[in-house]
Amino acid sequence: MHTQIVRALGLATLLSGAAQASDGRSLAAAQGIAHPAVIAHRGASFDAPESTRPAYLLARELGADYLELDLQRTRDGVLVVVHDDVLSRTSDVAERFPTRRDSPVSAFTLAELKSLDAGSWFNQAYPDRARASFKQLPILTLDEVIDIAEDSPQQRPGLYIETKMPGQFPGIERDLAERLKARGWLDKPGRVVLQTFDRNSLRLLHEAMPQVPKVLLLWVGKGSIEPASGQSFVESGERDKAAFYARQRPRDRAEFERWLEFAKAGGAIATGPSARRSQLGEQSYADLIEPWMNQLSHQQGLLVHVYTLDEPVDFAKAMQAGVDGIFTNRTGALMRFYGRADALEEGQVLRRLGY
Ligand code: G3P
Ligand code: CA
Repeated sequence: MHTQIVRALGLATLLSGAAQASDGRSLAAAQGIAHPAVIAHRGASFDAPESTRPAYLLARELGADYLELDLQRTRDGVLVVVHDDVLSRTSDVAERFPTRRDSPVSAFTLAELKSLDAGSWFNQAYPDRARASFKQLPILTLDEVIDIAEDSPQQRPGLYIETKMPGQFPGIERDLAERLKARGWLDKPGRVVLQTFDRNSLRLLHEAMPQVPKVLLLWVGKGSIEPASGQSFVESGERDKAAFYARQRPRDRAEFERWLEFAKAGGAIATGPSARRSQLGEQSYADLIEPWMNQLSHQQGLLVHVYTLDEPVDFAKAMQAGVDGIFTNRTGALMRFYGRADALEEGQVLRRLGY
């Protein structure tokens, strides 16, 4: 009896997963978005320093549908690709500009940012993946990532652009629209996707680029979905962030639905929810991809692109739960999971690219 119930439940999950996949596929097709989408998070950032040329070249060559990037602006007004608000984790800013090591990206000119080494930190943090050719890699501008996306006879990745801390960069949405227009990227349906955690930035992106697909990123905590626990990580007094977030849930179903409404009202065609990783660790957050959540999103006409998963067991769980695309640091692993990989491994591709 027990086995029969388990089998029936398994079948129900599979059937609901299949129904959701077909919902998601048609929503994605209408936007010109690949399904399921492979979104290279900060490039192929497991194998090369995040947001640098080799990370984006590798993601492109492995066949990623989108190169994901975090957009900020220099003191002299140039759009650049950096994740953190400060430069100390991913560059030698502490040696080059000791008094400004904790200054925001916006306090530096492009020339100053270009003088930093954005690669050597990776060799120190991950000696098993280190390469001499990663030393002295520069920070990239948006235009340079566009060049990478355009410059291949075989591959045609899109760009998946996040306005990072947009409150620090008034007008960045218009600046982005101007650059994309100048580069001819506003006439390519589905080739650019815009993403943000910030509802005001979503509105401004929609005003500036109504025709471009947009994603409201979701997590549980201040400025996003209210937690059932009513507590922030700091208030919890806990040390382990991933363990804390693994226990966080939306306050209730209505609170989750409220954020789907915000997404739609702001012009989004998808949400980008966080997920709990099976091994927890850095980049493991609250699980917002339970099957009912994805089902509700599809019913509301929204796609679901989950961030950020790297392990096959997590890819399988997310797909079974009904997501439509995955942000990953390991483009190669996700391409292999989908059966879309060609014969070359990441190391071979990096060597072929000259790294
Ligand atoms: O953009 C989706 C995902 O990248 C959000 O997390 O902090 O890596 O930008 P983060
Ligand atoms: Ca991002």
